[in-house]
Amino acid sequence: MATIVVATDFGGPEVLDVIETEVPQPGPGEVRITVRAAGVNPADLKLREGLFGHPPLPLRLGSEVAGVVAEVGSDVEGLAVGDEVAAYRVSGGYASELVAKATNVFRKPASLSFEEASGLMLVGATAVHALEAARVGEGDTLLVHAASGGVGQQLLQLARRRGVRVIGTGSARSFDLIRELGAEPVAYGDGLADRVRAVAPDGVTAAVDLAGTDEALAVSLELVPDRERIVTASPRQAAVDAGITGIGGGPGADPGTEIRNAARSELLRLAGEGELTVRVSRTFPLAEVADAHRFVAEGHAAGKVVLIP
Ligand SMILES: NC(=O)c1ccc[n+]([C@@H]2O[C@H](COP(=O)([O-])OP(=O)(O)OC[C@H]3O[C@@H](n4cnc5c(N)ncnc54)[C@H](OP(=O)(O)O)[C@@H]3O)[C@@H](O)[C@H]2O)c1
Repeated sequence: MATIVVATDFGGPEVLDVIETEVPQPGPGEVRITVRAAGVNPADLKLREGLFGHPPLPLRLGSEVAGVVAEVGSDVEGLAVGDEVAAYRVSGGYASELVAKATNVFRKPASLSFEEASGLMLVGATAVHALEAARVGEGDTLLVHAASGGVGQQLLQLARRRGVRVIGTGSARSFDLIRELGAEPVAYGDGLADRVRAVAPDGVTAAVDLAGTDEALAVSLELVPDRERIVTASPRQAAVDAGITGIGGGPGADPGTEIRNAARSELLRLAGEGELTVRVSRTFPLAEVADAHRFVAEGHAAGKVVLIP
């Protein structure tokens, strides 16, 4: 039996329930994983709220985990019982055990903790996709809205590797973190465009909106001359109307499945070699999943939030 989290309805954290269920045996091309850490992402909250539509209830949540291979189905190569692994994309990651497609399961570098490994691939793959979509490279001055979040932290580190100057927005308490990751912090809020101009009088060449606010959109449009080099990870009608590039889900967005899937093993390699760090801000026991969602919903986690079964 496994302990799993289900949403019994669409709504606030109170719709989350923790129940026991049987785990099926892995079929061909699948493995069963004993989960040691399950990453929480804002997308899980949006799914719970019904913002991504209304799939059938009860609804499983969680798309990335780290753990140990407990059973291997037929037609699986390169994975064995006892292997420490990280998996993304999975379905129903908020669980003590689950069955995943082996093509989404990767060996975890020994230097990465389970907690770190469970919080790397979704945000990292999003960051890679955003940088590619905005065609960011050496010589660019990039504005990143919400630079201190899970995605922002990976994006800043990956941008630094590309030789890019990054100006990152955050609240004042995130400034040290943004600096540590190689970017120049600027406070979001009224007057943002002027503060960015003061730091980068020669202008910014590209922008990535991870905040999803009207302000991030307006300031990006004001400062970046080429609209095709503005990318948002929170696609919405206003962004489509303004002609900027949305990534992930949402109206007019590019899901980027190929580029994101291709990024996963490289992200793990870089993190294993210490070239990328994953900051785990807080862990919660699986049974306290509702509190974990409340914490993420505050929007200032300053790192990854992880559930421990
Ligand atoms: N499209 C995709 O494929 C995709 C993938 C992953 C994530 N996302 C979306 O991207 C967003 C960020 O995800 P995440 O995992 O990085 O979230 P997160 O870890 O919860 O971080 C939230 C970030 O938002 C900042 N913030 C809070 N209030 C703000 C405001 N009023 N203006 C500007 N920034 C503000 C926070 O900065 P301080 O803490 O410094 O205040 C922090 O940097 C979420 O909406 C998520 O759903 C999209």
